[in-house]
Amino acid sequence: MRILSGMRPTGKLHLGHYFGVIKNWVRLQEEYETLYMVADWHALTTGYKRVEEIPHNIEEMVIDWLVLGIDPKKSVLFQQSKVKEHAELFLLFSMITPKSWLEWNPTYKDTKYNLLRLTDLSFMFKGGLRDQVKAFVAKLPYKIEDFEALEELILDDISDTLIQALFEGYLERGVLRELNVSKREFYDTDTYGFLGYPVLQAADILLYKAQAVPVGEDQLPHIELSREIARRFNGLYGELFPEPQAILTETPKLLGTDGRKMSKSYNNAIYFADSREEVQRKVMSFYTDPQKLRKGDPGRPEICPVFFYHKLFTPSEKVEEIERDCRSGKLGCVDCKKLMFEGLEGFLAPIRERRESISKSMVWDILREGSERARKLATQTMEEVRERLKVG
Ligand code: TRP
Repeated sequence: MRILSGMRPTGKLHLGHYFGVIKNWVRLQEEYETLYMVADWHALTTGYKRVEEIPHNIEEMVIDWLVLGIDPKKSVLFQQSKVKEHAELFLLFSMITPKSWLEWNPTYKDTKYNLLRLTDLSFMFKGGLRDQVKAFVAKLPYKIEDFEALEELILDDISDTLIQALFEGYLERGVLRELNVSKREFYDTDTYGFLGYPVLQAADILLYKAQAVPVGEDQLPHIELSREIARRFNGLYGELFPEPQAILTETPKLLGTDGRKMSKSYNNAIYFADSREEVQRKVMSFYTDPQKLRKGDPGRPEICPVFFYHKLFTPSEKVEEIERDCRSGKLGCVDCKKLMFEGLEGFLAPIRERRESISKSMVWDILREGSERARKLATQTMEEVRERLKVG
């Protein structure tokens, strides 16, 4: 069985990446033919204004892959943009992919919505409407206690509706112009490339006829779309591509220092590149059960992010004791965090040490060699694809 996965180079990795994805990558390379890809073209779909960061981000990410146990002798590590066949297959897939499949893709809708800088947008809408709403409120035939509060309320409501309409695509250019909203400014991700993101991803996977794709849960809609594209291609031109299956890790979503999902954008992540001191500082700042204010108060391990980490990193005999002593109040949060830090460091310290033996130039050598190997496989598939589509 052949396995492929990829990651956009967004920089150094955190614990969430390991437990969500990389752990599987490491495990699978022992048994299967594995290809792991730096998705640098995908990084451009949202990051085309910050291209200077990309080479550095690739280095940081691949160094983390290597220290976490991805072995270039067992897996092919390569760079997407070095294998131009990805672009060719992407182009051909784009001919047969209905637009609606892409527009309804939940990842596309969510990300686009998130990236719209909603507060700014709402601010602009309100600015554009303020005079009309003021005039409207002034005309009301009954006495109003608090004009301004009413105006704000109406403005909030209208701007929410407008944002919704804009997002759903119902707002015309003319309306936007009238409201003084420049669509372009907010639509960094309203590009052809971003809409086509999953088509490129399907090309990544199917170019190698990969049967399985170890990813995080957030990628499931993309994998589903890859299956649909494979089916459509096979239906139109004859069986060629397997339908790839997603492989998920069994670990629940890793929590960050504030108890929310660990994520770079929440600023709650513990990185493999963090020093011992940084990790210690982050551990001591962890959120705990808000009802346990001081030592002696009974705690609720089941809702405490620190306890979640004990379960992952502290020897299981000790975990039971910690659970008991937290509940009884005997163990305070400060001591509990210190214990957790020890367990976590037991995992992180050897990984940090391995970092010393890896240089940036090694990263580029590994990627160059891997990309050549990947390219050989890609060429074979493309010959078959071109033949089916009667193109050169
Ligand atoms: N979309 C993936 C992510 O954001 C990265 C990716 C690109 C990918 N191409 C892929 C993952 C192919 C699996 C297979 O993490």
